[in-house]
Amino acid sequence: MTAINPVTDLTLDGDVAVITLNSPPVNALSANVRQGLYDGFKAAIDDPAAKAIVLICDGRTFIAGADITEFGGAMAGASLFDVQTMMENSPKPVVAAIHGTALGGGLEVALCAHYRVAVPSARLGLPEVNLGLLPGAGGTQRLPRVAGVEKALEMMTSGRHAPAKEALEMGLVDELVEEGKLKEQAIAFARKLVAENKPLVKVRDNNTKVEAARGHPEIFENCRKANARKFRGYKAPEANIKCIGAAVNLPFEEGLAVERKLFGEVMSSSESAAQRYSFFAERQANKIPDVPDDTPLIPIKKVGIIGAGTMGGGIAMNFANVGIPVVIVEVQEAALTRGLGVIKANYERTASRGGITAQQVEQRTGLITGSMDMNALADVDLVIEAVFERMDIKKDIFTKLDAICKPGAILATNTSGLNIDEIASVTKRPESVIGLHFFSPANVMKLLEIVRADHTSASVIATSMKLAKQIGKVAVLVGVCPGFVGNRILGQRQREAQKLVMEGAMPWDVDRVLYDFGFPMGPFAMSDLAGLDIGWVKEKSNGESIRDVLCEADRRGQKTGAGYYDYDENRVAKPSPFTEKVINDFIVKTGANPRKVSDEEILERAIYPMINEGLKILEEKKAIRASDIDVVWQNGYGWPVYRGGPMWYGDQIGPAKVLEKMKEFQAKMGDQFKPAALLEKVVAEGKTFGSL
Ligand code: CAA
Repeated sequence: MTAINPVTDLTLDGDVAVITLNSPPVNALSANVRQGLYDGFKAAIDDPAAKAIVLICDGRTFIAGADITEFGGAMAGASLFDVQTMMENSPKPVVAAIHGTALGGGLEVALCAHYRVAVPSARLGLPEVNLGLLPGAGGTQRLPRVAGVEKALEMMTSGRHAPAKEALEMGLVDELVEEGKLKEQAIAFARKLVAENKPLVKVRDNNTKVEAARGHPEIFENCRKANARKFRGYKAPEANIKCIGAAVNLPFEEGLAVERKLFGEVMSSSESAAQRYSFFAERQANKIPDVPDDTPLIPIKKVGIIGAGTMGGGIAMNFANVGIPVVIVEVQEAALTRGLGVIKANYERTASRGGITAQQVEQRTGLITGSMDMNALADVDLVIEAVFERMDIKKDIFTKLDAICKPGAILATNTSGLNIDEIASVTKRPESVIGLHFFSPANVMKLLEIVRADHTSASVIATSMKLAKQIGKVAVLVGVCPGFVGNRILGQRQREAQKLVMEGAMPWDVDRVLYDFGFPMGPFAMSDLAGLDIGWVKEKSNGESIRDVLCEADRRGQKTGAGYYDYDENRVAKPSPFTEKVINDFIVKTGANPRKVSDEEILERAIYPMINEGLKILEEKKAIRASDIDVVWQNGYGWPVYRGGPMWYGDQIGPAKVLEKMKEFQAKMGDQFKPAALLEKVVAEGKTFGSL
């Protein structure tokens, strides 16, 4: 064995040279890896004893892409282009042996091998679009040549990782080999290529699939149309599409030149900077300074849920989806039957759309049982209470859980804002109590706010974080305070939205500004969707608020065909003259002086107080770091990823400008706008929010 460099080895297995990369955690294409590949391939090509070359990786995965941490810095070592040219022009067959994930630059390297073999569990993809980028190492030109234009469009604009079997079907992989036998079977494959004198296949020369798409612009239009909502505001999807267009209409080298040019454009865009930040922010959120990686975990083999409502049912599905049995406890039989029925119907709907098989529906519903007896929770490892937001009910439940649940079981509440320390105080084991705040619909929304109470143990926190990952959630650890992180910040935006309407802006003005900013919908459209009557009690309603009047007129949101907006039969919203009159009457009644509110003011009034509240949260140590707040807002509240999150966005505007505006608002409208002490401090010290 020859050590080419600290991350690359070269060995000779008979007449097959094997280049092995070992650069944890994911064999990303750092300067060392590129140089190792370059020198390794050169040595293998120069070695007369080697008749073929296999490229394989140690550790959990094949190359998972360019090293994102190197972006923006000066390029050291061999270029990826040099490595690829050497591989593609090798006079000896090159085989890429793939396990784990071959992503981005990793797949682009594999596409320069003459052949690719993979184990069935491997996944392949070009996910650059999710970082606001496009594959900049020939992937945009090679993938359509292998997989066809439609497949390439789908994969590159979604960033999806295709399983090995699908990759085999589309020609991206030449052969599947047995799990655990990648190296020996890849070597045998290479040896066979030599024995059978197989050609050295260069993907770049294979034009059949791209030529088939020439003269069919509708392929591209269909992709744009089908994804218009998803692509809105992002630069990278269109850049990826254009590159594939170049693959179809231009010779390979010219296509590469288009790719290079567009790569430069997306790489320097603010959208990509925010998306790359978001990638690391999400991973950073997993790191809890006082909960070390080796904290003992509590095995979670069975979960209990209290409450079979929409929330409880949605939460249960998360666990059944990953094979963990769940028992749901309800007090009323009818509610339990209804809840289990809704779960089944949800699974069947997913199956009817092709998301899961009928067998999976059976299996998952089979994992969820119901009970009317809290004693059914005696053997669960985790119980999540998901009942009404009433402290007395929660305290009663936790008192019972304390008596019933086995020692060491995690006792979690799904409260969205009640004081978890108070809930924990009724138990003799507050160290086992934690908040697991799911967002509705709980089987769909990515965010999980994990709420640490005063006495929550490190093991309970570590287990909750790990479990979140297992069920596909993005977890953020927060502290106990009203509304926790997400809803507390939302409160600022909602308050300003309501106030703006009393100052002369209409609900659709506020919604339009926030939609144009990148949110999927504004606060009033959101209320209409959720139902204006959430928390509204008919008997107590006395026309004191705009909402009261709308609800009294049976305008309770989309479900009644009208709310803040009027809706047609296709649920398309139109500004409502009725709502406008209600608002104007209120303005007259309160003696307010309506004025023209500019779009700029709407945006600043909605967003700056959110940033300010984020700083108060950091001051009070209710979030560990500024980027955690951004992760919450992206994954739970539709903050556009290409704008990073409120704290990242605040840095782009500049902390000084945020402070100046908050002071201006405070002077005009009072202490609701009082700048956080931390905001003053950041500005005085010339820091950024990102440094917090
Ligand atoms: N560069 C640098 N670091 C990376 C990385 C990359 N491409 N991919 C992952 N990492 C790091 C993560 O930051 C994380 O570090 P910490 O442990 O310090 O937090 C570590 O590797 C493990 O990552 P995950 O926690 O995400 O592990 P996972 O097993 O859940 O997922 C993965 C592994 C699927 C590879 C996932 O990390 C991932 O999707 N990575 C990004 C892949 C990607 O986008 N590649 C394209 C890069 S851009 C490119 O290649 C441009 C080009 O055309 C040349």
